[in-house]
Amino acid sequence: MSEHNSFLEKVKNNQYYNDMNLDLFVEEQLIISEKLYQNKTKIIIIEGEFWTSKQRKANSIHEISYRACFKPQLPYFFISNFTQKGNVVYDPFSGRGTTIIEAALNNRRIVANDINPLSKILTQPRIEIPRYSEINERIETIPYYKNLKSDIDLSMFYQEETLSEILSLKNYLIERYESGKEDHIDRWIRMVATNRLTGHSTNFFSVYTLPPNQAISPQKQKQLNENFNRYPVYKNTKNIILIKTQSLLRDIDNIKRRTLHSVAKEAVFLTEDARNTPQIADNSISLIVTSPPFLDVIDYARDNWLRCWFNNINTEEITKKITVTKSLEEWESFIYDTFIEFKRILKPDGMIAFEVGEIKKGKIKLEDNVISIAQKVGFNIEAVMINKQNFTKTANIWGVTNNLKGVNTNRIVILRK
Ligand SMILES: C[S@@+](CC[C@H](N)C(=O)[O-])C[C@H]1O[C@@H](n2cnc3c(N)ncnc32)[C@H](O)[C@@H]1O
Repeated sequence: MSEHNSFLEKVKNNQYYNDMNLDLFVEEQLIISEKLYQNKTKIIIIEGEFWTSKQRKANSIHEISYRACFKPQLPYFFISNFTQKGNVVYDPFSGRGTTIIEAALNNRRIVANDINPLSKILTQPRIEIPRYSEINERIETIPYYKNLKSDIDLSMFYQEETLSEILSLKNYLIERYESGKEDHIDRWIRMVATNRLTGHSTNFFSVYTLPPNQAISPQKQKQLNENFNRYPVYKNTKNIILIKTQSLLRDIDNIKRRTLHSVAKEAVFLTEDARNTPQIADNSISLIVTSPPFLDVIDYARDNWLRCWFNNINTEEITKKITVTKSLEEWESFIYDTFIEFKRILKPDGMIAFEVGEIKKGKIKLEDNVISIAQKVGFNIEAVMINKQNFTKTANIWGVTNNLKGVNTNRIVILRK
């Protein structure tokens, strides 16, 4: 095993505990066991709390919500333990770009892919970050028109004047894109506006609604407004964009900005099906950190219908392309095909950290299925990591406050080519 796989070496030699050479050391003893799989292969299972917010605060630049995204600490763990500066890190199902941004912050080269174009819209601007002053100046130049009407009824989300501002911004961004004038400042404004469309606090364009990654249908929103006697009030969209910009940029200093800009020069953003990515050369990727679409749990395109509307993306077309598997067999066959592609693009000795969720309340442990697919494709199975993290959070949903206790579990299969 190559030298950069030091974490697994240490685990195997029992030298992992409180080892300060590991950037993230674990607070509690890990549980390490071995499991015998179908064809008598022994797999190491490592269970513990590998990344907590206490150990390492995530950079503020990550704070863009997306369904089923993982915490930045997860990709950081693998990027720091399995790669070095200049290596190429790839996420084939990039979502909001958690892996990609964490890799860029740590000076790795990046390749991002997601079949939903929204993913690039949400990620690219956070690698080629403009200065606050540039964003502030640009936003002042955007022409705002009164009394613009939208093609669909959005009155349950937005007050009239707010909607007119959103439409002015939408038209401006389309015009800039179509005339070839769009630059990184426009792309930043587009990303922040997309993130601020709907949400559950005053700093969103909409009336109080579900969190921004869970847009609901107009009919449902109407009903919620009626039930709780809420109605959209005027929101100053420019101010909201600037407030969110400030918040995203609070951990970005000059050194980080320079690192990100140098990574951005060579960054690759693709919008392909992860099974077929001819743009990526054979044997070119050092590490893949990813979580695939799970069985039919989340409808990524319809869930993002309002974000798609704002960005002129045809939700129905994207829905057709996004993989939503109806059975475990279908899911396995999809993963098999992606693994064949991963094997082609990974360098010899290249690693994969493949995060799978628990489905049917933990009855199906997808890592078992992933292991047998990986064996068929010819990967070495290094370990299964199970990260367990207890949490208590106070949730306030429609005026009812709850203290929710639970466990966040990430199950990650680690593979080597
Ligand atoms: C679990 S999410 C990834 C979230 C990501 N880890 C993050 O932190 O934001 C899965 C992603 O896979 C994308 N996707 C679904 N089918 C795809 C396919 N066939 N090829 C590429 N991407 C696909 C979805 O659009 C979704 O963004």
